[in-house]
Amino acid sequence: MDKVLLIDDEVDVQYSFRRIFNSPDLELHTASSGEEALKMIPRIQPNLVLSDIRMAGLNGLETLRRIRQMDPKLPVILMTAYGTTQTAIEAMKLGAYDYLLKPFDVPRLKQLVEDALRAARDMSQVVVVQPQLEQQDYDLGVIGRSESMQEVFKLIGQLATSDATALITGESGTGKELVARAIYQNSRRAKEPFVAINCAAIPENLLESDLFGHERGAFTGATSQRIGRFEQCNRGTLFLDEIGDMSPATQTKILRVLQNGSFERVGGNTPVQVDVRIIAATNKHLEEAVARKEFREDLFYRLNVVRIPLPPLRQRRGDIPLLVDYFLRKIGSTSGGQKSISQSTLVALENFNWPGNVRELENCLRRAVVVAKSPAILPSDLPLDILHNNPSRITTSPASTALPPTEIQAPSLSNAPIRQPITASVGVPLDLTEVSRWLFRWAQSHSDFKIIPAIERELVIEALKETQGNQVQAARMLGITRATLRKRIDKFAIRKELNVT
Ligand SMILES: Nc1ncnc2c1ncn2[C@@H]1O[C@H](COP(=O)(O)OP(=O)(O)OP(=O)(O)O)[C@@H](O)[C@H]1O
Ligand SMILES: [Mg+2]
Repeated sequence: MDKVLLIDDEVDVQYSFRRIFNSPDLELHTASSGEEALKMIPRIQPNLVLSDIRMAGLNGLETLRRIRQMDPKLPVILMTAYGTTQTAIEAMKLGAYDYLLKPFDVPRLKQLVEDALRAARDMSQVVVVQPQLEQQDYDLGVIGRSESMQEVFKLIGQLATSDATALITGESGTGKELVARAIYQNSRRAKEPFVAINCAAIPENLLESDLFGHERGAFTGATSQRIGRFEQCNRGTLFLDEIGDMSPATQTKILRVLQNGSFERVGGNTPVQVDVRIIAATNKHLEEAVARKEFREDLFYRLNVVRIPLPPLRQRRGDIPLLVDYFLRKIGSTSGGQKSISQSTLVALENFNWPGNVRELENCLRRAVVVAKSPAILPSDLPLDILHNNPSRITTSPASTALPPTEIQAPSLSNAPIRQPITASVGVPLDLTEVSRWLFRWAQSHSDFKIIPAIERELVIEALKETQGNQVQAARMLGITRATLRKRIDKFAIRKELNVT
């Protein structure tokens, strides 16, 4: 049974709470002051506290502060008749679960209490990640214990003692740049420069001069000589990121440096000798680009000396708890105070497909830490699409999802991963989860859009149109009784609109 402690010096409020929360599943205790409540808490061990703010003696904020010291996990809802922005901010900063204005909107109050109690239950199952992170995980900064990551670590180790060119491949966010830096830091060149260059981000006409530098007067605007990245990084390591996006002309030049160890600055004709170790990365399928003649085959072989394929996160789900632990510590160290995570939240994270891989997981946790009201991250702190993820969600092959017949213009999902259509129980190839996701997104940006009534209304209208107003048939189509249909017709005031009797 859930125990709720109400702190309020007004007898009227205590009385109305007793009426509102008169339920066999809930035990309501009352205290008339902060001091009294602080004495009661260790004895009754409530699952939730609701406290007034303005009280004689300890006020609500001060009481909250002391409760936090006693039990950081106990959710506290503060209530006041004199709301100011400042107290609301202060309350949330002190870690209140929520902040309510009097007089209460009873359904909202009940909902909030229910949510807070659920949060308290979730929080009682906060997880301690096993196995624990060790110092060596931090030293490398590349987290993972899965077999596929062990292979990656082995390769990093092997590359440390050589100058071989490495090609890191993997989907976006799998840690290609992180691994490139780890190779560099463990190599003999660790004290020499590391220069990273994103081949996709620099306009093609500037890439060449960026990489190789230029002589004065080489082109309009070249008023002085410029030293390019290759020269800057002599004796060091050059990280060529997004190598699959390089133009054919630059590919040729890079190939020459790799073959001869020399190049000319743009507009110059003296060869410049350099000693540079190349690490390249791409999320493109280079073999296919070679087959399409978009990427030079000879350059591909030069780069592909040691290949490090990084596994997508969904293929190493076992690493998710460790990554979560790592990121929560990292985020906590810069945001003052580390949050923990409830078991059910961790399960949701482990089940998600993470099309954006580790980067997406890190961003998701950063957001969750900000929105979480309690010391532990709860499922309600996760975005809906992660929470409602269907493990069958796929990230490749543009499967043709049947679109629902709806007049609502769905927000663009072009960047969202495509999920395989599931077959609803009636055999319609309609992805109901996908439809719901659209609706939720739509509702998020249209506060007056109430999903269930809006959909119900549309369905009733459609069924009546379809059956030319035959209520018996319409009710059957909708799977409801005729009496319920009539109630809906009245509720949505559509009798006149559709001319039904
Ligand atoms: N194994 C890991 N351990 C810890 N952090 C990781 C790991 N992999 C990735 N990250 C973090 O995820 C984020 C993305 O990593 P990174 O930039 O290396 O990915 P990427 O593969 O280069 O992505 P893109 O293809 O989009 O450039 C970074 O903040 C990185 O620190
Ligand atoms: Mg990258």
